[in-house]
Amino acid sequence: MVESLIKKFKETYGESGDIRTYFAPGRVNLIGEHTDYNGGHVFPCALTIGTYGIARKREDGKLRFYSENFSELGIIESDLEDLVPSKEADWTNYPKGVMWAFEKRGFKLSSGLDILIYGNIPNGSGLSSSASLEVLTGVILKDLFGFDVSMVDIALIGQYSENNFNGCNCGIMDQFASAMGKKDNAIFLDTNTLEYEYAPVVLKDAKIVIINSKVKHSLVDSAYNDRRNECETALLELQKVVDIQTLGDLTEEEYEAHKDAIKSEIRQKRAKHAVYENQRAIKAVAALKENDVETFGKLMNASHISLRDDYEVSCEEIDILVDLAWEIEGVVGSRITGGGFGGCTVSIVKNGAVDYFIETIGEKYKEKVGHEAEFYVVDIGDGARNLDV
Ligand code: GLA
Repeated sequence: MVESLIKKFKETYGESGDIRTYFAPGRVNLIGEHTDYNGGHVFPCALTIGTYGIARKREDGKLRFYSENFSELGIIESDLEDLVPSKEADWTNYPKGVMWAFEKRGFKLSSGLDILIYGNIPNGSGLSSSASLEVLTGVILKDLFGFDVSMVDIALIGQYSENNFNGCNCGIMDQFASAMGKKDNAIFLDTNTLEYEYAPVVLKDAKIVIINSKVKHSLVDSAYNDRRNECETALLELQKVVDIQTLGDLTEEEYEAHKDAIKSEIRQKRAKHAVYENQRAIKAVAALKENDVETFGKLMNASHISLRDDYEVSCEEIDILVDLAWEIEGVVGSRITGGGFGGCTVSIVKNGAVDYFIETIGEKYKEKVGHEAEFYVVDIGDGARNLDV
């Protein structure tokens, strides 16, 4: 596939120069949802699907972008002098935002670039196609300009650009997973300190299966930012009665003891989710280390209920998928994954039940919702990298 992308690059932009090849993966989060902007823990892993990039430096300051996924848009041109978000820039606002954020950090881009992109993460599926494009851009800039920037910094720059250039107030999880992923491991990340640990995902007789609901409700970005604001207000209210920096500092008991300081029922539910979900993530990783996959699965189920009822980021289609999964013998755990309001579920399914799982849920989902779901049996891959070496 990389060969055909290089061929396409040469057809699009010409043959000359030092043409290099890169990849940044998407991610699936196993547990610890909507905790990353609340100072809590997350447990994502990088996928083997993601975004490919072919790139070459130019002699002038022009930026030329072409995406195989949006071929109808043709080549989108810009310039290093024009690193501002715009509607016409369309998907190139993501790589441009990362370039802008590098420059803000003092990394001067000494020339323009020709870039060709191809992604195999289904669009809008909540598996972090945008974060992978950001991290990919970071890796391209690091490599082509020789910038002394770590992979963690690339993740932070990606998040910064998404927050300040593209207007989504996301946390660090997606970019971190794409930059720092490791084959067969999930990343146990404390988003408050950015300390992290790789945990081998050894499920012996089970597999991780993602189901794409193929729905994306329009409120994704605005409702996401609302949740974040609600949690920030709840934190300020709690800080009047307890000495904490983030919601992730609280245990469940501490939350229950102080929750009355939060003056709205909705904000209490949001904060409750943030606190309990963080504790669930910690417990789930401990269980996995003990090879206790059953407990891990139960915590996934509890995570879904909390995201559905207290954080209210699920939707009908996703609840149908999770309910169908819960009915199947051999399903160890199942929950919504990612930002919510559509997108995907993640389930742990015993090997012997995987075929039945896909067939039965596939049929019943179509019956109830009217369109097909998509299933991916997950392979956990490495983080973003140059593919030439
Ligand atoms: C989106 C955001 C992440 C994280 C998840 C929810 O994917 O980009 O930072 O907040 O939602 O866990």
